[in-house]
Amino acid sequence: MTLPPNSLSITVDRADRRTLPVQVADGIRTAIDRGELAPGARLPSTRALSVEVGLARAVVEKAYEQLVAEGWLDARRGSGNYVRDVPHAVRSHRRLRPAREDSPVAQRISLRPGIPWTPPRASEAWKRAWRDVGASPPPGDYPDPAGLLDLRTRIADLLGRARGLHTTADSIVVTTGSIHGLDLALGALSAHLGVEKVLALENPGYRSAAALAEHRGWTVHDVPVDRGGLEVGELKTAPPRTPAVYVTPSHQYPTGGLMPIARRRALADWARNTGSTIIEDDYDSEFRYGIAPLPTVTELVPDNAVYLGTVSKTLGAGVRLGWMVAPPSMVERITETRRAIGDHPSIPIQYAMSSLLRDGEWDRSVRAARRIYRARDRIVAAALSRFGELRGVGAGLHTVLMLDTDVARDVAADCATNGVDVPTLEHSTRSPTTQGGVVVGYGSVSDDRFQRALGVLVDALERKGVS
Ligand SMILES: Cc1ncc(COP(=O)(O)O)c(C=O)c1O
Repeated sequence: MTLPPNSLSITVDRADRRTLPVQVADGIRTAIDRGELAPGARLPSTRALSVEVGLARAVVEKAYEQLVAEGWLDARRGSGNYVRDVPHAVRSHRRLRPAREDSPVAQRISLRPGIPWTPPRASEAWKRAWRDVGASPPPGDYPDPAGLLDLRTRIADLLGRARGLHTTADSIVVTTGSIHGLDLALGALSAHLGVEKVLALENPGYRSAAALAEHRGWTVHDVPVDRGGLEVGELKTAPPRTPAVYVTPSHQYPTGGLMPIARRRALADWARNTGSTIIEDDYDSEFRYGIAPLPTVTELVPDNAVYLGTVSKTLGAGVRLGWMVAPPSMVERITETRRAIGDHPSIPIQYAMSSLLRDGEWDRSVRAARRIYRARDRIVAAALSRFGELRGVGAGLHTVLMLDTDVARDVAADCATNGVDVPTLEHSTRSPTTQGGVVVGYGSVSDDRFQRALGVLVDALERKGVS
């Protein structure tokens, strides 16, 4: 039996980036794979279908040829094109289809910290920056291993005005993010013969930093944290020749502590006295809602510090771009290594970042995101403060509600059964601590999902009798 031309329900869209024959072939392929066209059915003639869908006959012929070549259709000379019997084992288009709004997958809400929200203004700026990039010829030569000079100069300017960190392009290396910066710093430090590969690290702390250090053969020495971040006095427990400490003094990750100035100075003194290097990860300093960020530790002791910045909390973690400020000898070692192994962040992405900074779009986008986060920070504080101590309020993209470890675990489990994933501090804890809590990330969820998730968390805390 020949299928009537209107039975294929093919729609074509001239604005679609796929060519017309590809759209027609995709429509037929999908219908066969869904079982809407039975094996053995004869497709309409190319003439009939072209009239039905309003396209040139050559378009339909091309689509049929493609489907014959792929094995979906059987072309019988003088008779027409027939649907072949294709097993339904591989249905890649089904797997790729996004989850329906009402499916359990789509309903789950994750309060995982650290994923940013992209304001519409930032999306527009991003598009314009890439138009700028596209207007230049492809970069033909090998890049400067430290990064584009223009970008490094703009980053130096940004750090001076936004972070009070006064530096120059010569001290900056463009990276693919904080973790890359940490890797480059550890590589440069371990190039010294006889160095003890020990990295002192906050506990609870950034797991990826610990994982990277261990991956590179370093031993991680846990140092406890309190409301003021890393307990500097506890660095005395680290082996005597510990060459580096990794810290997040401006918004301890994940417990949210802000290291006070006296402790910053003590940390700087410790580095000066021991010859150790402080690796300062300033991962979310763009987002402060009350007080301005405190001066960086790097500014206090520039010869013994590496400063790490990233766009992962502003543009997004998939962009893979960041920067480090390091002492001259380390910059030299890093650029030598990079030249040797050809490890350069892509020039186009560096151009795009330069363009965002040059046009002031970076600052405007950050301000737009900050307005949203400030409101959410307040909502979280208002909803959760009655349940216990909150840490990290007024900064970043997450807040922590401190709880007993067991209680935090139960509350997270309750939330999970109600479709909301809330991490606990245990996820970021390496050696046991007395501190437990739930981490409430509010960066990426839409307003209504955020409110819903917060409601689920509040219910779970009430059910558990936390007060
Ligand atoms: C403490 C901390 N530092 C840095 C980053 C970002 O790292 P990267 O720039 O490598 O994406 C994150 C992301 O979650 C983080 O939590």
